[in-house]
Amino acid sequence: MRNNDWDEDLSKNTKQRRNNRKRRNLDADQTHLDNESSKFVDSLESTKGTGWMADKKYNRMFTEIEQGLSGVLGDGPFDWVDRRVFDAVFDRLTLMSLYKLMKSGMIDTLDFPIARGKEAHVFHGTGENGPVAVKIFHTSNAVFKNLIQYIEGDPRFGGLKRRHRDLVDIWVRKEFRNLSRLAKWGLAVPKPIGVHKNVLVMEYLGTETAPSPRLRDVNVIDPEPVYQELLEFLAVAWQKANMVHGDFSPYNIMWHDDGPVVIDVGQSVVQSHPKSQEFLVRDVTRLVEWANKNGLDVELAEAMYDVLEMDLSHVGQTEEE
Ligand SMILES: Nc1ncnc2c1ncn2[C@@H]1O[C@H](COP(=O)(O)OP(=O)(O)OP(=O)(O)O)[C@@H](O)[C@H]1O
Ligand SMILES: [Mg+2]
Repeated sequence: MRNNDWDEDLSKNTKQRRNNRKRRNLDADQTHLDNESSKFVDSLESTKGTGWMADKKYNRMFTEIEQGLSGVLGDGPFDWVDRRVFDAVFDRLTLMSLYKLMKSGMIDTLDFPIARGKEAHVFHGTGENGPVAVKIFHTSNAVFKNLIQYIEGDPRFGGLKRRHRDLVDIWVRKEFRNLSRLAKWGLAVPKPIGVHKNVLVMEYLGTETAPSPRLRDVNVIDPEPVYQELLEFLAVAWQKANMVHGDFSPYNIMWHDDGPVVIDVGQSVVQSHPKSQEFLVRDVTRLVEWANKNGLDVELAEAMYDVLEMDLSHVGQTEEE
């Protein structure tokens, strides 16, 4: 080895040691941060139920959003709210997110609940430009609650609740970005409007009083063009947007203005995802099943070929992502 190689090697070693030290310091910082945030979240959660709402520091927030939330929470003091819905959906940090979205004008009022799913409640809201759908993701689910009892209190694993929350927030941002990307390619999805932590605001599909039905709940008179449209949806998503829906079922397709609109894209992944092809086959299978049920004579192989090879030269991007 030549001298300058040694020099390089030595300096590399020193650099590495320095980096290791830096990393250790960062790790310590991170642990400290985790501890602090878990203490913070614990202190939030130790005030059980709605008692914290009486806290003076939230006074202003409540006076400001009380009106906006009266559609779903009822008028008057907050304590006669349905406690089960309340505890599941409107915890303190969620109310703060709603407050933020209200301040920014994306939501003025939350009017009535539309649906409750496994992961989220969906509400009809009203924003600056009319009705919006507000999807509020649950931040603590049953599985998590079950797991956490074995972990909380063990000092080696602090900050877990906090990390779970972060994960939910990332999921919601993923749904928002997936919606944006699909919308950019002109696909029929609700237009994304805004997102803050576990709250997603999007275009509302429905009438003043009720959301549009799901594809599984309607009797489509002429299924052929609907099948073609949904096949093209999968093709454009795959070939152009490089995405696969991942849960493409008649439960996640709404029937709006006499056509299908695809929702629930949180689990959608990009083509480079290791399971993207598996998901694509599953999505196409579901569509073919729907078509067959509606009297169309189509087969999986043929549908797969269409999705992969369909000529989409007429399809272009509509707006910036
Ligand atoms: N943009 C929208 N406009 C009107 N209604 C909507 C909208 N988005 C969702 N919904 C309603 O809320 C329901 C649940 O939405 P979504 O499927 O996105 O949530 P989810 O929590 O993933 O539900 P699930 O666990 O049942 O799949 C839908 O079936 C539909 O009835
Ligand atoms: Mg769904």
